Amino acid sequence: MVTKVFNSKEYRPKNKTEVIRIVQITDLHLFADKQQDLLGIKTWDSFQAVVDAMQPDIVDADFILVTGDVSQDQSKASYALACSVLDKLGKPVHILPGNHDVPQVMRAAMATQFIGVENFLDFGSWHILLLDSSIPHQVSGHIDTTQLEQLKAHLAAYPDKFHLICLHHHPIEIQSHWLDAHRLKEGALFLDELAQFKQVKSVLFGHIHQEFHARYAHFDLWATPATSVQFKPKAYDFTVDDVQPGYRIIELSAEGQISTSVKRIPDNRFQAVQAESGY
Ligand SMILES: [Fe+2]
Repeated sequence: MVTKVFNSKEYRPKNKTEVIRIVQITDLHLFADKQQDLLGIKTWDSFQAVVDAMQPDIVDADFILVTGDVSQDQSKASYALACSVLDKLGKPVHILPGNHDVPQVMRAAMATQFIGVENFLDFGSWHILLLDSSIPHQVSGHIDTTQLEQLKAHLAAYPDKFHLICLHHHPIEIQSHWLDAHRLKEGALFLDELAQFKQVKSVLFGHIHQEFHARYAHFDLWATPATSVQFKPKAYDFTVDDVQPGYRIIELSAEGQISTSVKRIPDNRFQAVQAESGY
């Protein structure tokens, strides 16, 4: 059975007119110490500010998606802090790991009644797949052969379902030299494999700490601002940006269409400090 390769959670099937609403946050980079900062930004405070801002948008959300880099220091305490907020949003939360995470620690520390570690969300007409692209102690990403074969087998088994693929790393170059060095290593192969399946509608990711959109074959690629430090688009070397942290809203229609937008927190409260050495 193909479905067994993914650990699934089944949601109530949507009827013909209902839309699936997702609120995505990414790259929280939390520390065990709430006062600790990353390049001058207290990531606990910026995470809180994003959660406050997104409250009106989660009222009708089906779930919150967290696309990795929950922790900066990889401590259990940092994951517990994330949990203390996400667990109280009143919505299901689904998480996948980023390069700064330790997947086993993250899953063990964050799996609660409301926070799921499943990697296949079955909404009936839509299948949402959550991949693990993290490599221990490396910044760049990787989808191993086993995971890629499982993904292809799943797509081959469900040609009539619309698919949203989620992971941490960007599989496509974003014209930013330093960040492109840290993309998904086999990104080109990954995209070409997905292009074989007409029902793939979008690939959604974090990692690049900026808003991004591109088309590849017949599907869209979207990235979402971090809840923490922002990186300047198309910068050759490591460069922080002065735009504010934010989140993304994604709506999946029963006809297979996607509408999405990014919202950032108001005011100019969080300004990162440029560093020579990156982050
Ligand atoms: Fe990150």
